[in-house]
Amino acid sequence: MNIAFITGISGQDGSYLSEFLLEKGYAVCGLVRRHSTIFGTYRIDKILKDLDLFYGDMTDSLGLCDVFDKILAKYPNYQRFEIYNLAAQSHVMVSFEVPEYTADVDAIGTLRLLDVVLKKIPKEKIRFYQASTSELYGEVLEEPQSETTPFNPQSPYAIAKLYAFWTVKQYRKAYGIFASNGILFNHTSPRRGETFVCHKIARGVQRIMEGRLDVLELGNLDAQRDLGHARDYVEGMWRILQHHQPDEFVLATGKMYSVRQLVEFAFEIYGKHITWDGEGKHEKGLLDGRIVCQVNERYYRPAEVEKLQGDASKAKTELGWSTNVSVQDILKEIMGKN
Ligand code: NAP
Ligand code: GDD
Repeated sequence: MNIAFITGISGQDGSYLSEFLLEKGYAVCGLVRRHSTIFGTYRIDKILKDLDLFYGDMTDSLGLCDVFDKILAKYPNYQRFEIYNLAAQSHVMVSFEVPEYTADVDAIGTLRLLDVVLKKIPKEKIRFYQASTSELYGEVLEEPQSETTPFNPQSPYAIAKLYAFWTVKQYRKAYGIFASNGILFNHTSPRRGETFVCHKIARGVQRIMEGRLDVLELGNLDAQRDLGHARDYVEGMWRILQHHQPDEFVLATGKMYSVRQLVEFAFEIYGKHITWDGEGKHEKGLLDGRIVCQVNERYYRPAEVEKLQGDASKAKTELGWSTNVSVQDILKEIMGKN
């Protein structure tokens, strides 16, 4: 049997990946944190009985060692041990508020995990996936971005992820382990955290149309992102670890939409057309003459990534990976209208 160990199993991607790997017959194990008010496992509640969950934290090396000891005691006869390192302080804006913590979890946490993996698992049985990100490209130096595009990170989050990216490559070279980076562009789903822009827009517009919210407040309406569905991207992660050699792969749709367009698409789902008036922080979205969307500077970032558009040709050719869910369909799914 093959073991899959997922850090960040309670997150958006962790939940879809667990379901995918259970169907493939893996023994799926995961790292979870204690929460004071709720279990924190609501995204995986339906499959909880099929998972082996262990308390731990990416900031705690000894705890990570204990977790691996427990997994190996339970599954001594495994063929392959796949590790998916998805745990992260994953919010770019929040990383400006807690830069040191973000670096501890996202950068040093990856180093800690790799170090434990190397000590506990025989090299030839290791397959390590790192959740790298299009945020590495930051203020982009090439369009669209591929595996050969230089990085230019713009946030504490992106810089922490850059450290992790290079640590993975270095462990591959220095210790000869199968360790790969998936450079994933934005992907979302109904399971996304509420404060990411796509989810905030879908839920916000839904509340406005149901009379539960007057105005949706957003930051930079000009920012453009390449947006796909998380379900397709977790399959890509798995494909990256089934490849004949460790490598870097971009996963993206190749299409890019502005935050303003996402707001328009969300209203279109209700058959409504909004118009825009004003510029910059004074811009407003109007529906039948009423303000339904406005800019609030509190959502501006100290340094912004204006546009991201990926070129996933390599993943398509070498992994046979592709994705074709439209942004409109994703918004509909978040709203429960598909
Ligand atoms: P997410 O929903 O925010 O999930 C993050 C997960 O990490 C959660 O399970 C969280 O646990 C866990 N976590 C956070 N800090 C931790 C710590 N100190 N120790 C242990 N676990 C910790 O993120 P996601 O959207 O699923 O993304 C998965 C990974 O892909 C992340 O590394 C993210 O940076 C990266 N990524 C995401 C995207 C995207 O568009 N979604 C694109 C590129 C890369 P709790 O549930 O307890 O909070
Ligand atoms: N969150 C948020 N809230 N973003 C807003 C808002 C708002 O009210 N208004 C405008 N934006 C803009 C942000 O400034 C950014 O340019 C864009 O919308 C997307 O923001 P997020 O949805 O927060 O995602 P992100 O692109 O910063 O980061 C996500 O994608 C990365 C991959 O590129 C996260 O999932 C990261 O973990 C991931 O690595």
